[in-house]
Amino acid sequence: MAAPLRRRALVSLQRFVHNHRCFSSSVVNHKGLVVGTFKAAGKDSLPELTPAAQHYDRVSEGRLTRDLKVASRDLKKGKSRILYNSGCEYERIAVVCLGPRGVGYNPQEELEEGRENIRSAVSVGARQLRDVGEIDIVLDPCGDPEAAAEGCMLSLFAYDELKEKKKQKPHVKTGCYTDHCPGESQKIEERWQRGRVQAESQNLGRMLMEMPANKLTPLIFSQIVTERLSSHGVTVKVRDQEWMESEKMGAFLSVTRGSDEPPMFVELEYIGGEADSPLLALVGKGVTFDSGGISLKPGANMDAMRGDMGGAACVVGAMSAIARLNLPVNIRGFIPLCENMPSGKATRPGDVVTARNGKTIQVDNTDAEGRLLLADALSYAETFNPFLILDMATLTGAIDVALGSAVTGVYTNSSSMWSHLHQAGQLTGDRMWRMPLFNHYTKQVTESQLADVNNIGKGGRSGGSCTAAAFLKEFVTNENWLHLDIAGVMMNKDEVPYLGKGMTGRPIRTIVEFARRVKKSPS
Ligand code: BES
Ligand code: MG
Ligand code: ZN
Repeated sequence: MAAPLRRRALVSLQRFVHNHRCFSSSVVNHKGLVVGTFKAAGKDSLPELTPAAQHYDRVSEGRLTRDLKVASRDLKKGKSRILYNSGCEYERIAVVCLGPRGVGYNPQEELEEGRENIRSAVSVGARQLRDVGEIDIVLDPCGDPEAAAEGCMLSLFAYDELKEKKKQKPHVKTGCYTDHCPGESQKIEERWQRGRVQAESQNLGRMLMEMPANKLTPLIFSQIVTERLSSHGVTVKVRDQEWMESEKMGAFLSVTRGSDEPPMFVELEYIGGEADSPLLALVGKGVTFDSGGISLKPGANMDAMRGDMGGAACVVGAMSAIARLNLPVNIRGFIPLCENMPSGKATRPGDVVTARNGKTIQVDNTDAEGRLLLADALSYAETFNPFLILDMATLTGAIDVALGSAVTGVYTNSSSMWSHLHQAGQLTGDRMWRMPLFNHYTKQVTESQLADVNNIGKGGRSGGSCTAAAFLKEFVTNENWLHLDIAGVMMNKDEVPYLGKGMTGRPIRTIVEFARRVKKSPS
């Protein structure tokens, strides 16, 4: 009994001394701090400190290095260790390892590896501090405040509003450490805020994807988007079924028939550039639940199909970031929303429907529904004469077979737009890989017994993502068209360390970066 008591008294005495040594007149802040280190050169040598960590070490009179000697030899890249009572201002310090110093672009990985290392390492420290109960965290910008903010804010996301209070993760207040360079604190803060907005927008997309289909119907989706985007200067129009009929969107309407939930079509507009600057059109597949329809999916893991509105979520997330950051671009978003359900009214395999552009489609598989709603949304988007059209869709299981969760598959007729998007992905860490739009695939979808096109390629399962893209191509005339099949990157287990388990909101940050780049040099 006596020993622990004595120890406790000693600890508080130590704390008293330290607090008073550092802040003789100020109140102690009970905050957590994440600091970065670079991988030590030798096995037994100490990790190198970042400038922020060095500064903190100085103001805490060497306590950081002292404790590191005890606790953090041989700290591995992406790992974190917590130091307690390590200094004056911060109760707990998470020391994270960023890997070796001076890591830059890795051509093999097509990745700005230094930035990605920061996102990953910081995310581990932030999460670890939250897990020990810290709800006020300050982070070392590690030389890239934008990446640090992204790693932090993305890693703290949790969709747990449907759980009882005590199972919910606490809200954590976050801030950027700038004490080490007071002259530049404003610039650092700005870059931190940019990263924060980008991560928060991705988190908005993740929330929409994660929400169960009974809580996120097409109607509720349109309401949430109206609420969340109108306040940031985005104009939101919500169209109903009657409007779709007047637009002759027969392909889209054929998917909605089996569901009792009314379909919606959301149009977004953000004008941040000059009236005559080129218009970007974003189109997103918004199937709030995909049962497959009459071509019913197998039961296992069907719950994941609540995320089949991932393309729509990415349009919303990207436009939210672009508007909040006041990027000088003009963008319109087009989001067809519905459920794909079986019923006595549902479309049958073999049915023929007429798309908005007049082409007839033989629907041989009602589970290939994404391309049907996109066909009409794409041809509608064309009427605004955009400079480019970029669509995103959780379109095929085949892209997951081909690329897994590493990278988004991109189909495009424009090599210059490809180059912008490709580079954007290398910077954000949410990468892009180009896929073929060959005639080979077009032939497979334009041969149909009864109609102009067939909604599944006659190649069977082979090249399934490529035939889906070839199908969409039949409904686009724009010279700068990009189609992103995001089914493979829809969910995360632990592949991306800073995302955690669940729906990802990928590749929202890459679209934001792409919009920045296209604006700077359109061609
Ligand atoms: N929503 C699915 C694609 C999907 C699969 C997304 C797995 C996320 C994870 C899409 O509507 C679909 O079912 N596509 C079919 C097309 C096939 C019938 C030609 C597929 O991929 O099997
Ligand atoms: Mg689907
Ligand atoms: Zn489907």
